[in-house]
Amino acid sequence: MNLLDTRLQRATLTPTLLDLCPTPDDLRGDVLAGLASTPKTLSSKYFYDARGSELFEAITRQPEYDLTRVEIALLQDVMPQVRDAVGGDAHVVEYGSGSGRKTQLLLAGLDSPVAYTPVEISREMLLASTQRLAQAFPDVQMLPVCADFTQPVPVPPSLMPAARSLVFFPGSTLGNFDDVQSLDLLRAMRETMGDDGAALIGLDLVKDVADMEAAYNDAAGVTAEFTLNLLARLNRELDADFHLDAFAHRAVWSARNSRIETSIVSRRAQVVHVAGHAFAFDADEAIAVEISHKYTDAYFDDLARRAGLRVVRRWNAPASRFGLRLLESA
Ligand code: AVJ
Repeated sequence: MNLLDTRLQRATLTPTLLDLCPTPDDLRGDVLAGLASTPKTLSSKYFYDARGSELFEAITRQPEYDLTRVEIALLQDVMPQVRDAVGGDAHVVEYGSGSGRKTQLLLAGLDSPVAYTPVEISREMLLASTQRLAQAFPDVQMLPVCADFTQPVPVPPSLMPAARSLVFFPGSTLGNFDDVQSLDLLRAMRETMGDDGAALIGLDLVKDVADMEAAYNDAAGVTAEFTLNLLARLNRELDADFHLDAFAHRAVWSARNSRIETSIVSRRAQVVHVAGHAFAFDADEAIAVEISHKYTDAYFDDLARRAGLRVVRRWNAPASRFGLRLLESA
């Protein structure tokens, strides 16, 4: 084994974390501000505590929620084309800590990727997923970055020089951001990937309204439990006194906004305490908790263009149930 091999192996087996996350999410401040505003809001980014992440995994196994299964099948199908379009020696930068099947498919299907950088705000999730992937891909240098991907991310230099960066943002997570936020996010992404970079983005597409609503109202009630777990989290972490059975999950299609809008609705007039503050709810009053945008080509092409990007390849699943888009700098 020569010197470079030894260094590469050491770097690969002991991922060093670039930690740009000194400020943890201000749960308390955000929640108090959100519940004091009209209409009341809570950010969907707070769904993903340990229990919430578990419940999201369970959602992806529900028959009504086919996004994840369809995206994985699509990626598997088109991976040879993605490989050709991206080229060799890419540095893959994933938004969110990809431990799962999609990351594995991408890293295994690309032409000799040199490095992998998951970008994730939770240090724990970041290190756990990096360790799993390091085992599966010993030739890919692991360079995790703890950071907020809504801001430009400095891509750490790899030992083997990369031909280009490829930002991977699957799952239609972009859809959880409103129009203004998603434009900012795409602009930050353009900066992260650089002039020669590319981005591979998963988007859920507009389809039959009944199908879209069913995906967020599964018969087993897993999505309702996932949504209401946010209140359970506030009870645990902010000493709140939400009665979970006094609130209901509601997810409806908004044609005007082209998105599923999820709220938590108060079943009766009541007062709830959170971190020592009292909040009054009217009967049927809603807390807006999540949006899940569904895309058309016209809408996404325009969004990309306004962010200085252009769609260079598009792949759709059968019946256009989900799409993958490859973007480059305009
Ligand atoms: C995969 C995070 C985009 O909005 O469809 C699933 C999250 N929320 N069911 C989505 C979610 C309720 C999901 N994302």
